[in-house]
Amino acid sequence: MKRHHVIRLGALLVAGLALPASAQIGGSDHDFSGMGWSDGEICKPCHTPHNSDTSVGFLWNHELTVATYTMHGGSGTAVDDFDFVSRLCLSCHDGTVALDSFGGQSGSSFMSGKELLGTDLTNDHPVGSDALYPPDPPPGWWSSAFKDEVDLPAALELKDWVDSNGNTQRVVSCGTCHTPHNAGFPHMLNMSNSSSAVCLGCHIK
Ligand code: HEC
Ligand code: HEC
Ligand code: HEC
Ligand code: HEC
Repeated sequence: MKRHHVIRLGALLVAGLALPASAQIGGSDHDFSGMGWSDGEICKPCHTPHNSDTSVGFLWNHELTVATYTMHGGSGTAVDDFDFVSRLCLSCHDGTVALDSFGGQSGSSFMSGKELLGTDLTNDHPVGSDALYPPDPPPGWWSSAFKDEVDLPAALELKDWVDSNGNTQRVVSCGTCHTPHNAGFPHMLNMSNSSSAVCLGCHIK
């Protein structure tokens, strides 16, 4: 029994070493515990163990954006045009909801700098209703320019979005390229973008 434990520990150490050293949220761009507005906690601005917003699940604690956006395909709304992960991200990154509007309190610290995407998303990579996968209708430059979904790298997961007819579509999401929790790659990406591997994961170029 004792020997068994030693072997297990050895295997765990090897597995641990194989992970990127920084693959945790502590110390990442989403560790807000050092910021005055965060209550000194990491998870709390986004999650709570009690009294969460059950409309989105994931024990969500942050006020949700209800903004209207300028999108590649025209005007869109937070409620209708995004898969739910993108909406959660935009609830801080569009700048309409304060960072410290969580746990039912109304905050006053807002996103600034290059992390602020704003409500004009036409200068950002398409997500949600702007980015059906495969595109429908196909863009002008379409000529089998995308990989089939089964050929995408496993780290780039498409998300579900329910369109106005109630049909579930597969779309590119903020959560396709990024993770909120840090996977150990720069810019909170789900995989390394070295040699533009993220972009070439979908686009045939
Ligand atoms: C900046 C916001 C943010 C912070 C901070 C954050 N999360 Fe999350 N978390 C999310 C979002 C968004 C989702 C749902 C989408 C997803 O998983 O990509 C999620 C999903 C989860 C899930 C379920 C799915 C999964 O990925 O395992 C768990 C468990 C979780 N978070 C735990 C935590 C814990 C524990 C902390 C603190 C140590 C934390 N999160 C901090 C945004 C955050
Ligand atoms: C609670 C508010 C909040 C939520 C929700 C949130 N973020 Fe952030 N995020 C921030 C803040 C604040 C920063 C900037 C931290 C700093 O100044 O260092 C940030 C930083 C980032 C960065 C780092 C950018 C860089 O400099 O490389 C990325 C990428 C990012 N967020 C993506 C996301 C994605 C994707 C989601 C949804 C899955 C999300 N965020 C959800 C508040 C949030
Ligand atoms: C198609 C992939 C992809 C999608 C979709 C995507 N991002 Fe990014 N994002 C990136 C890459 C790659 C970078 C790093 C750019 C660089 O190298 O400077 C980045 C950088 C960022 C940054 C850092 C600021 C900056 O301009 O460098 C933030 C914040 C961010 N993304 C948030 C989001 C949010 C919120 C969404 C959803 C609305 C989103 N991203 C959707 C790939 C993506
Ligand atoms: C998960 C798949 C996926 C990934 C990863 C991805 N793209 Fe895209 N890309 C799309 C889809 C889907 C569209 C929208 C096509 C449409 O409907 O017009 C798109 C659109 C574009 C467009 C056209 C935007 C416009 O104005 O019409 C450019 C340029 C682009 N992507 C570049 C990139 C770059 C650069 C990266 C890497 C940072 C990247 N893509 C990563 C799927 C992806």
